[in-house]
Amino acid sequence: MTIIPVSGGAFAAYDVVVGRGLLAQAGTHIAPLARGRTVIVTDETVAGIHAEALTVSLTAAGVRSEIVAVPAGEGSKSFAELERVLDRLLEIGLDRKDVVIALGGGVVGDLAGLAAALFMRGIDFVQIPTTLLAQVDSSVGGKTAIDTPRGKNLVGAFHQPRLVLADIDVLATLPERQVRSGWAEVLKHGLICDAAFFDWLAGEGAAGATGDPAALERAVIRSVEIKSAVVGEDEKEAGRRALLNLGHTFGHAVETEVGFDEGALAHGEAVALGCCMAFRYAAREGLCSAQDVARVEAVVAAAGLPTRLAQAGSFAADRLLTLMAGDKKAEGGALTLILAHGIGQAFVAKGVDASKVRAFLIEEGATA
Ligand code: NAD
Ligand code: GLY
Repeated sequence: MTIIPVSGGAFAAYDVVVGRGLLAQAGTHIAPLARGRTVIVTDETVAGIHAEALTVSLTAAGVRSEIVAVPAGEGSKSFAELERVLDRLLEIGLDRKDVVIALGGGVVGDLAGLAAALFMRGIDFVQIPTTLLAQVDSSVGGKTAIDTPRGKNLVGAFHQPRLVLADIDVLATLPERQVRSGWAEVLKHGLICDAAFFDWLAGEGAAGATGDPAALERAVIRSVEIKSAVVGEDEKEAGRRALLNLGHTFGHAVETEVGFDEGALAHGEAVALGCCMAFRYAAREGLCSAQDVARVEAVVAAAGLPTRLAQAGSFAADRLLTLMAGDKKAEGGALTLILAHGIGQAFVAKGVDASKVRAFLIEEGATA
């Protein structure tokens, strides 16, 4: 078991616990925080696989719990599901000393976190992430949100969890495509600021992409260390935290165009493609070497993730550009991209010339 503290901001410090068999010990970890009741917010798929182990563990530790399950999938990050969850918390009679537990992937974490932020002006919540993406990224850092028809993650709050329990064993039931998708966010952390970690992910650690638990554990630990350091420095994304968006401005535009339906591009697949595009754009501008681009592409492809726009579909350059400019990371009409001087050397590039990005997108295969 490894404990990684998250601290440094204006928020109360908390621990991310990474290890095996943590779900069965969750009651012991949560009991000191739960002065009253807990409500487990989960999705219907995860509820069927992992909720019982959690409730048994909570009961054994003397913690009362109820389950609120939402449909699995991005569609649950909606006003309708948020209202339903909040209404259930009211119906159950939760009060301000009670705790919400998010048991699930990034969808459940974002939705339950926002419900906890809003309920009675904010109650404590615990994250028990069950996807690799949620363990290495969304459960840490306090970003919570729902989507609206106008875009993803546009309504939300910063609300840090009191505790994160990342149990490597729960990843055994995750479909392989979801493991690979989360692996993209792991690779992203190496690309941002840790070339040695990226080397390990490309070699000895590569088995994590197909679910090897020892490799996954080390990859989750290092990813959380990197993310917690960034969040501790810049909770509200005034500067350095934007680096965590490497691959997201290109990737998010592609993801939006493809749609968020089940079976379409997974979030991590879009991020992997976006990272390759960011490195290729950086090389085009003379900012990083062609060798680094080739290595990034090779490692992403070896993990079974897309490297080329054509693998995601057909796109119009202007439409992608509009989506990139409309992204919440854009400031004053100018494009902000996360680019890199090399592997492990990402930086925030502001005021990027949109006409150069358009030309790049056409070179990438988008139509003019
Ligand atoms: P998800 O929560 O939809 O989970 C993916 C699928 O896996 C779902 O069908 C779910 O039911 C299933 N699942 C989850 N755990 C399982 C398990 N252990 N075994 C079997 N099936 C399991 O998707 P995700 O990829 O975890 O998260 C994506 C969401 O995270 C997006 O909405 C994205 O915006 C958000 N996100 C948030 C942040 C943040 O900082 N808050 C960061 C990155 C992504
Ligand atoms: N996933 C990006 C962030 O947490 O800031």
